[in-house]
Amino acid sequence: MNAKKYLKLGALLGIAYLLNSFAVQSGLFTDAPRPVKLNDRIEHKVDSLLALMTIEEKVGQMTLFTSDWDVTGPTLRAGYKDDIKKGRVGAIFNAHTAAFTRDLQRIAVEETRLGIPLLFGYDVIHGYKTIFPIPLGESASWDMPAIEASARVAGLEAAVSGLHWTFAPMVDIARDPRWGRVAEGAGEDPYLGSVIAAARVKGFQGKDFDNADAVLACAKHYAAYGAAQAGRDYHTVDMSERVLRDVYLPPFKAAADAGAWTFMTSFNELDGVPATGNKFLLTDILRNEWGFPGFVVTDYTSINEMVPHGIVANEKDAGELSVLAGVDMDMQGAVYYAHLANLVKEGRVPESIVDNCVRRILRIKFMLGLFENPYRFSDTDREKRTIMAPAHLETARDVSRKSIVLLKNEKNTLPLSKSTKSIALIGPLADNKSELIGSWSAAGDSKQCVSLLEGVRTRFGTTTKINYAKGCDINKSDKSGFKAALAVAKSADVILVAVGEEAGMSGEAASRSSLGLPGVQEDLVRDLVATGKPVVVVLMNGRPLAIPWIADNASAILETWFLGTQAGNAIADVLAGDYNPSGKLPMTFPRNVGQVPVFYSMKNTGRPFDANSKYTSKYLDTPNTPQYPFGFGLSYTTFSYSGLKTSASSFRYGETLEVRVTLKNTGSRDGEEVAQLYVRDLVGSVTRPVRELKGFQKVFLKAGESKELVFQLTAKDLAFYNQKMRFRAEAGDFDLFAGGDSDAKLSVRVQLLE
Ligand code: GLC
Repeated sequence: MNAKKYLKLGALLGIAYLLNSFAVQSGLFTDAPRPVKLNDRIEHKVDSLLALMTIEEKVGQMTLFTSDWDVTGPTLRAGYKDDIKKGRVGAIFNAHTAAFTRDLQRIAVEETRLGIPLLFGYDVIHGYKTIFPIPLGESASWDMPAIEASARVAGLEAAVSGLHWTFAPMVDIARDPRWGRVAEGAGEDPYLGSVIAAARVKGFQGKDFDNADAVLACAKHYAAYGAAQAGRDYHTVDMSERVLRDVYLPPFKAAADAGAWTFMTSFNELDGVPATGNKFLLTDILRNEWGFPGFVVTDYTSINEMVPHGIVANEKDAGELSVLAGVDMDMQGAVYYAHLANLVKEGRVPESIVDNCVRRILRIKFMLGLFENPYRFSDTDREKRTIMAPAHLETARDVSRKSIVLLKNEKNTLPLSKSTKSIALIGPLADNKSELIGSWSAAGDSKQCVSLLEGVRTRFGTTTKINYAKGCDINKSDKSGFKAALAVAKSADVILVAVGEEAGMSGEAASRSSLGLPGVQEDLVRDLVATGKPVVVVLMNGRPLAIPWIADNASAILETWFLGTQAGNAIADVLAGDYNPSGKLPMTFPRNVGQVPVFYSMKNTGRPFDANSKYTSKYLDTPNTPQYPFGFGLSYTTFSYSGLKTSASSFRYGETLEVRVTLKNTGSRDGEEVAQLYVRDLVGSVTRPVRELKGFQKVFLKAGESKELVFQLTAKDLAFYNQKMRFRAEAGDFDLFAGGDSDAKLSVRVQLLE
């Protein structure tokens, strides 16, 4: 670069620095577009290839079809292999293993005019073959190294199976447990959801693609899919831009900033415009504000679905709306396939727009090294050596243990006493494998899953009598098995009862209008409690459940979600006290479905609840408080918080405030605690939530050990979208809270000064 250019660049950088520091000083923050470091060599190759391509071949790169190996949506298109041969497909999903992907890749590379290699995508959501806890469960670990390790194993196993791309992480904020897809995400909170989104993206994508041991991540479902009305999947989403930006977009921004190379549009409309045709989302925010350099794929036939949405009259119009809004690739809809070339020829879509879409896709194929070696991910020997390696199973067991949340533990029922002579293991999920790998279990093989019965027998079987009875099914009314279950229970020192949901009761198209235990499971638990023996309820479920009677009457409750391949061993580790449970809820558990939506960071309202006043915000028949709050989870030890203080009583924009609190393990067991820091902005130019998570630290302390934890806060941490839709912090008083869940009482007040 010559001297003049250097001077110009230096001047521009200097101006940018001054503007940014002014912005910071004024409390106004901008999410400057991510600087995209494009590789000139690749860009040159992309442009050279693009120049050779016909419009049909360009549209082919923008077309994604499913193989006939798996169906994850309403339609299955036959003849996809012929389409590959004609160069009219750029990517295939639901095709995996090194052998099968090699076969399909050969068609694309050796039998088409330009030999452009295919991308292979698949829903590797919480593991490929080694299955990890469902993402909501894993999120309960609040353990970023564990979460990243899980995605790393998933990415590696996927890559050695011929896959280049996973349709994960799902980063939809969800505050309505009726929605079955809460299982796939990280719960209700933007801060926790953002930190987890970044960890998952880094896990899937690794440090680079040089060793073909990582896959492209895909942040989905963009955007606000989790706010479906009434928790009913695919339902309408309508919210203010402020809620969109303050609550639902941050995890997507975090995924983009972590380097996610793809995004997936969501099925829902947002403020009247389906996400798949929403230029505000796909171009104004994702491209222009955030500088996202990757490509955007639709969800399954979501372009076609804009016709029933009623925003277009036919699929050709839908294709036009999508490509002009910023959609690069059409999943399974065959709308670009059928109409895009004509839309260009008719002048309705500039070819330059198509070229930009194709450029984004080809750039990634070059980046993956697929032009140098299209088969580099399809190595059967490497696949055999890698899949379900012992180290992967150990990682799965570790992540699973850390995902378990201890919700109740009366009289230290847990861990099971070493003097326990006889355990009764009861319930429809006690000797089950198929449900335990959860929804979206990819190539997972439930036969490889360790059931709870197997885990308990392995851990306790040599010293303790284990008697099992199913008792009932998950979702049937037949109680004929109760008698045998009670007989088994009567002779035991302690009863473990495994109840919950079927895996198919959460995930896609799996909303429930109630949140109780299905079938007669609660009746079974009631009868077991009536024996007077200690009853440990082991929950296996894909969403927060409403279990008020169990919460009041069980001796102990473990929330174990669907823990995947190592489920039985992980739960046994916790039952035995080999691992002290450390999980915290990533989503509020309501008392009943009538409270929904209920989440910790709600607004105060003008008439906050007051038990002494009728005319305040409340129900006549249930408290406002949930059964278990966000961030809640017990341990086999106890922790105390004290000495909350800040480095100053006030601070200014651009300064960092240190927040200190002393955490002590006041119990008799070593253990981990997730210390959480919440903030309340007492007065804003718009109303502010009563609390917002702004930091957490997962800390291991030996029994009796204390540690002073230090958090750092800046004005940017306190920023929100104001009435002018500008992201800024506002001077004023803030209350800070530190504790083990979102109900933390220990607080201190600080001031942010202009
Ligand atoms: C499904 C899901 C999406 C998934 C895609 C491909 O409909 O909504 O999460 O990645 O189709 O299977």
